[in-house]
Amino acid sequence: MTAPLLEVTDLRTHFFTRAGVARAVDGVSFSLAPGEILGLVGESGSGKSVTGFSLIGLVDPPGRIAGGSIRFAGQELVGLPEDRMRAIRGKRIAMVFQDPQATLNPVLTIGTQMALALQAHGRVSDRAAAERAGAMLTRVGIPEAATRLNNYPHEFSGGMRQRVAIAMALLNGPELIVADEPTTALDVSIQAQILAEMKSIARDSGTALIWISHDLATVSSLADRVLVMYAGRIVESGPVGAVLRAPLHPYTRGLLDSLPAMAKPGQRLAQIPGSAPSLLALPTGCPFAPRCAHADAACATPPPRVDRPGRHALCHHPLDAAA
Ligand SMILES: Nc1ncnc2c1ncn2[C@@H]1O[C@H](COP(=O)(O)OP(=O)(O)O)[C@@H](O)[C@H]1O
Ligand SMILES: [Mg+2]
Repeated sequence: MTAPLLEVTDLRTHFFTRAGVARAVDGVSFSLAPGEILGLVGESGSGKSVTGFSLIGLVDPPGRIAGGSIRFAGQELVGLPEDRMRAIRGKRIAMVFQDPQATLNPVLTIGTQMALALQAHGRVSDRAAAERAGAMLTRVGIPEAATRLNNYPHEFSGGMRQRVAIAMALLNGPELIVADEPTTALDVSIQAQILAEMKSIARDSGTALIWISHDLATVSSLADRVLVMYAGRIVESGPVGAVLRAPLHPYTRGLLDSLPAMAKPGQRLAQIPGSAPSLLALPTGCPFAPRCAHADAACATPPPRVDRPGRHALCHHPLDAAA
């Protein structure tokens, strides 16, 4: 076994609000091998983005990492001073956001921004920067890259703009990219293209990828392993194929049944009843119990961790036991 690139242990990121403490990430543990593609899925509000921001040290008040450990290539990131974090962020760990506007400066050309991103982390001549930037735009599927470097963000379509943001993330040859719903705002055919390209780029360059999405279908076509998040916890994890074929957690089953691609023609999609719980008022037992068809009196106590080879779930009634 190779040493993990990333090892997250009992991560807790909480928001200390007037209304109470929102435990957005509450005891999350996982590891990631170099070059591995990990999907992080769950409904909106489950804590996926906060997990991603925690990894790159960008949790803003009233939130903060309240406990746990994030070891990246052997180095502890929790509590790392901001100047040392800045040397890692954008260089060794890059992030792609749902809205490329979050990364792209509207008043600078793409070429200038890419040169600045390169030069922030090392001595690179303008000319070498332009060459590398152009090559990277080509790599992410942007035609006529050399000319496009002179364009401003608004001169690109939504899909092309997100490709630019991905190219920016790749520029410094990061070991890990955290991509937070980067294709969610794009139309389906462009989503599929970008997904396939991201996968091949990650594979070719050996970059590990954490792909965050509310959509299990997106993740299934991309990832090696999947983490399913609910109310700030990883409720199921395992290899994508195994999890999709036979989920252990009723919540994962519910996510699967609500996928259009999984339904038989004419069948109505089964939405998970109810909605994600408020993090300010979580039940003491299983947070999914109020929405779960399998819930019984046992579920009023915290769910145990059930382990299967290469996978696990947090559930009193894992689906393989019921069968
Ligand atoms: N700035 C904030 N202030 C207070 N609570 C927050 C803030 N950001 C996130 N949270 C809490 O964290 C939860 C998870 O958010 P997030 O990680 O963005 O969910 P998602 O899974 O949709 O990415 C939210 O439902 C909210 O309770
Ligand atoms: Mg999010």
